[in-house]
Parts: sequence; C-alpha cells; structure tokens
Amino acid sequence: MISITPESRYNSLIDLRKGEIGREIFSSRDIYEEELEKVFTRAWLFVGHESQIPEPGDFFSSRMGGESVILARDKKRKVHVFLNSCRHRGMKVCQYDHGNTQLFTCPYHSWSYTTDGKLFGVPQFKSLYEGCMEKEAWSLIEVPRMETYKGTVWASWDKDAPDLLTYLGDAKTHLDLALDCRDGREGGSEVLFGVHKWIIPCNWKFAAENFLGDTYHNVSHRSVDLIGIGPSAEAGVKGRRDNEMEKARHVWVNFPAGHGVHSAIMPEDWEFLNTYQNNPVVAEYFREAHAKRKERLGAERHRLIPFVGTIYPNVSFHGNQPRNLCVWHPHGPESTEAWRFFLVDADAPQEVKDFLRSYYMRYSGPAGMTEQDDMENWNYATAGSRGVIAKRYPYNYTQSLGRVGTDGPVAGNVSLQVSEENPRQFYRRWRDYMNGADWDTLLGRRDAGPASIAG
Ligand code: FES
Ligand code: FE
Repeated sequence: MISITPESRYNSLIDLRKGEIGREIFSSRDIYEEELEKVFTRAWLFVGHESQIPEPGDFFSSRMGGESVILARDKKRKVHVFLNSCRHRGMKVCQYDHGNTQLFTCPYHSWSYTTDGKLFGVPQFKSLYEGCMEKEAWSLIEVPRMETYKGTVWASWDKDAPDLLTYLGDAKTHLDLALDCRDGREGGSEVLFGVHKWIIPCNWKFAAENFLGDTYHNVSHRSVDLIGIGPSAEAGVKGRRDNEMEKARHVWVNFPAGHGVHSAIMPEDWEFLNTYQNNPVVAEYFREAHAKRKERLGAERHRLIPFVGTIYPNVSFHGNQPRNLCVWHPHGPESTEAWRFFLVDADAPQEVKDFLRSYYMRYSGPAGMTEQDDMENWNYATAGSRGVIAKRYPYNYTQSLGRVGTDGPVAGNVSLQVSEENPRQFYRRWRDYMNGADWDTLLGRRDAGPASIAG
C-alpha cells in the first residue's frame, strides 16, 4: 500500500520542473486549514501602521491569518499586538475597528485588560477567585515577535522567526520606495483614515500571486483604459506616460523568502508624468516631490520605480502612485478578506490628501475600476479550481521557465521579460512551509537556485 505523506502530497501538487501546480491548493478545505497552521503561524505578517495608533491608548483591530488581533499603543507608547480573545472564554475583548481606550473590557463577564495586555479587573475577584488564580498569569496573549519598519508593524507567532529585515531580504529595496519614497526623512508616510475592507469569493493565493508581477494579465484592464476612466487615462498624459514606460527597463524579481516584485528602471532623465494635472495644487506638489526624491535618493536609486509586489505570504503593495498595502486575509478556502491601506506623505497639504483619497478609491478597493477587473478573474479562477473533472488537470506555470538570472540590474533572481518565475518561487516556498521546513530552507539558504531550475 502506498502511503500519501503530507510531503509527497505537496511535492506532487507543486511540480516546478514541469511548471505545473495542482488546482486543489486553491479550493481544498483541508489544505486551507493546514495553511493557517503551517504558513500563517510562522511567516511575518503585516498588522498595521504606526500612524493608525499615534497616541497612548490608541488601538486598531487587525487580523493574523484567520484570527483577530489588536494592535495597541500602551501608556508608555510601546506598541503591542495581542490576540483579540479573552483568557476566560475567548470572547473578543475589543469589538471596535479602532479607537482609544484605557482598558479592553470583555463584554461577556467583564474581565478587563490594560493596554499593555495585563489582566486588570475581574468582577468579584476577592470572593470568587482569590487563592484560585494568579492574575499575572492571565494576560492577553501577545505575539512573541513584533517589529516596526518605516511605520509599518509586522508580527509573527514563531519565536524562532528571523528578524524582519532578514526575512524581507533584498525585496526591501522595492518595498522601501513604496512605504516612503522620501526615504524616511521629513514626516514619512501615513495611512489615509479609513482602511478599505471587503470580502472576495476567491482563494487568497490568487490575489497574492497577481501582485507578484502578473503583468501578463493587463489585458483584463483594457476596458478601463479604453473608455478613458482609468486613473492613468487622463487625456494627453497617458500616451506620454506610456512612452516613458516603454523606454524603461522592466524587471520581474523574486527573492529567497518567496517575495516577488515587478519594478522598472527608468531612463536617466525620466520625467514624472502624473495624472493629477487637472488639479494645479496636486500637480505642483508631485512635481516638487519628484525633484526632491531625485535629490534625496540619488540619480541611480531614483530610477527604480516599484509597480507591484507581494511580501510572502499575503501582503501586496503598489509602489508608485497609488501607494498602498493590501493584505489578503485568508477567510476560507474560497474566501479572502481584503484590506487596503492607502499611503500618503504625512506632511502633504490636506488638498493633496483629499485628492488622493478619491483618486485611490477610483483605482483600487471594492469600488476601484482596476480592482473589480482583478476580482472577477480571481472569483472564476477559484470556482474553476473546484470541479471534480477540473481538479484532475493542473495549472500551467511554464511561462519563461528557466529564463532567469542573478546577474540582473537589481539584486535577486531577475527576469527581463514577463515571467512566472516569481509565482514559481512563491509556490516553492509555500510547499516548503506546508512540508514543515526549517528557517534555513524558508530563507533559501539551502536552495540550489531559481525555482525553474532547482524544482
Ligand atoms: Fe471574557 Fe468571560 S469571556 S470575561
Ligand atoms: Fe490587475
């Protein structure tokens, strides 16, 4: 009798030598449950931005994998990430999306916790619990690893996880420009008030994969461009902007930990052609910001423009305008809760922030023109992964198989043409997590090279 070990199951579902991936990883309930355990309790996950909790007592309810967590700033201004679950019977101690509080009070039996997580109040403690329970032992459950980076807050449930910068590796270069294209000086970036949250009937990996640099799907957005209502379609600007982009050198880059980006190296004298020309204040702001960016980053670094990327497993970003982070929270094998955080320069004039708010909403989020195109694809792709007959046939991931190198113009495994090397690397790591690999493997310290060659 042949036994199917988890390892042999995932090795056969992810066949990178052939460039084939089994459909069931996008729809199976048991694989989904296993992902929550094996991927989402280990990888670094984005939980929020410091600008959302500037003052002591501020909190923002977030998620890690399938679970609710609280991002909080305590009285001493220290940032914490707690599981949003009472130690008594598990009720959510924080019912609000965001706010300010001195205590998190559980609505069930009223146990209360301080903003640094300590159990503070227990009704009728003296008569019911004294001598039976040590309050100190029943604090909120706090993540063992939490780090902040350029305003972003990340956490991992794995105490042995590498530090965040090691985990990001060279993907940091691209992410940096998305998080704060002014390189952390001046006021940095802030999240525009109001995180967009919505549920998509798709597997989370379709969304994460799309942002690894699936430029190949741009045909999906053709209708938005054709009718001139897309964010890049302002009369006279789009054509010139397209010319700039054609002169750019495009790179699709993946990194050992499973991250991937699509960026462009612009011509030396590239000019920023923004789409805000119908608002002189905004247009002027971006003209100046562009010039200052060049001054600060230096001519070479200024040429790098990150379009999109995914930090493994489920944090994607747009790196140029619009700048945002999107988290694809797993919500079920065929359900994803998307949260989009829009970034603006913290010290930009209010008029610029207001303009960007409507610009971003037109572009991304549940009502965004381009996002709707993408969601439709992911919805049907998820349904197409479920059928009894369909599941017998793997998906094709052979695009540009083997055409990748490490001697490109930027660090990482670089493709100079549209390529599925980034998703191949992503799924190689996904397979490693599902096989319970150690951190040396998950960081690529034991690999033989690009995913299309090493298998
Ligand atoms: Fe929170 Fe009982 S569940 S106090
Ligand atoms: Fe798209």
